[in-house]
Amino acid sequence: MKNLYFYLFCFLSLFIYLSCKKDAVPTNPGWTYDPTPYTVEYPDNFPIMVFDEDNPMTVEGVELGRMLYYDTLLHPNGDMACASCHDQSLSFASFPTVLPHVNLGWNTTFLWNGKVSGNIEDIMLFEVDDFFKTDLTKFNNHETYPKLFYEAFETEEITSVHASRALAQFLRTVISSDSRYDKIITSGSGVFPTEEELNGYDIFFTERGDCFHCHGGILFSDNLFHNNGLDAEPSANGLSEITGDPLDLGKYKTPTLRNIALTAPYMHDGRFQTLEEVVDFYSDGVQPSATIDPLMKQAHNGGINLTEEEKDDLVAFLKTLTDTTFTNNPAFSNPF
Ligand code: HEC
Ligand code: HEC
Repeated sequence: MKNLYFYLFCFLSLFIYLSCKKDAVPTNPGWTYDPTPYTVEYPDNFPIMVFDEDNPMTVEGVELGRMLYYDTLLHPNGDMACASCHDQSLSFASFPTVLPHVNLGWNTTFLWNGKVSGNIEDIMLFEVDDFFKTDLTKFNNHETYPKLFYEAFETEEITSVHASRALAQFLRTVISSDSRYDKIITSGSGVFPTEEELNGYDIFFTERGDCFHCHGGILFSDNLFHNNGLDAEPSANGLSEITGDPLDLGKYKTPTLRNIALTAPYMHDGRFQTLEEVVDFYSDGVQPSATIDPLMKQAHNGGINLTEEEKDDLVAFLKTLTDTTFTNNPAFSNPF
């Protein structure tokens, strides 16, 4: 009998404790979850974008992601935001090794060495948890964020998964599809290439230059890893760092060439200051090595051996990939 009272006492204490605990965390009855679906718009000549069915796009999610991207609260010391290094006016790049944020919604591999693969949610979770090591209590205790997260994800507890999903939604909308090149290839746009640009196009998209094999398609990247012949002794900080496979030495992610005129210097280590230097490299500076890509077919000649005029044409073509609608798009800018 004594035991029974004891258990009853424990049960009651637990009950009182739990009821009090619940009261200690007030939930705001004013919040509502009624998100507006967001349709990502992109031209018909682009591949189908990959979405995550666990992260349906909403107006609320995209806007929240944009805030997080520009908010230093995401950083544990509060000294930087994503946008501190990823600058819209530079196609969301900045100092030498920063990869730009252009059309990431179609990417399947991320970072120069391919450390993260999957969809954009995967890389965002990496950025929040592993790169920034975001302190989510700052968001949970914040004046406005709990409501915004509730409205986007119907959650009362903000986790790094929610933060990464919001960032992913925003970055899926960060699309470049209105460069001079896009206008030129759109019939009826009234924009025509100069003779130089047209010659450059031919070099890029034919065996003359062979660029299209890796930087092909409307996204100007094959999303794969190659050794493009930068060094006779390829370095080990590329794909091989992740796979541990010596056959992957000197292989890096093929970067998109969209907005390439804005993202100098070039290559994973920023070794070339200008597009002219890059083109000189592909023309005469290619270094054969054990792992050089078979698509670098002219490596035994040091490259594709362009004339000075052909080099100018190729650079002129690369400059048609600049999209100022993108760099000035108010929807991608700092919301604060
Ligand atoms: C201190 C500068 C800096 C900050 C701040 C920063 N990044 Fe980056 N970001 C880089 C650099 C450098 C790279 C390339 C690194 C590499 O590949 O090893 C990169 C690469 C990336 C990539 C890979 C792109 C691709 O094409 O593979 C993504 C995505 C990205 N950053 C997102 C973010 C997000 C989201 C934030 C905020 C949470 C952020 N970055 C904050 C410097 C920064
Ligand atoms: C075998 C595949 C391959 C071919 C062919 C190729 N590239 Fe590349 N390109 C790459 C890879 C991989 C990188 C990144 C290499 C690195 O950073 O180490 C790159 C980097 C670049 C960059 C610098 C991008 C940046 O953001 O820093 C430019 C510009 C470029 N290539 C233009 C060209 C042009 C023009 C051609 C044709 C003459 C060409 N590429 C042919 C694979 C290729």
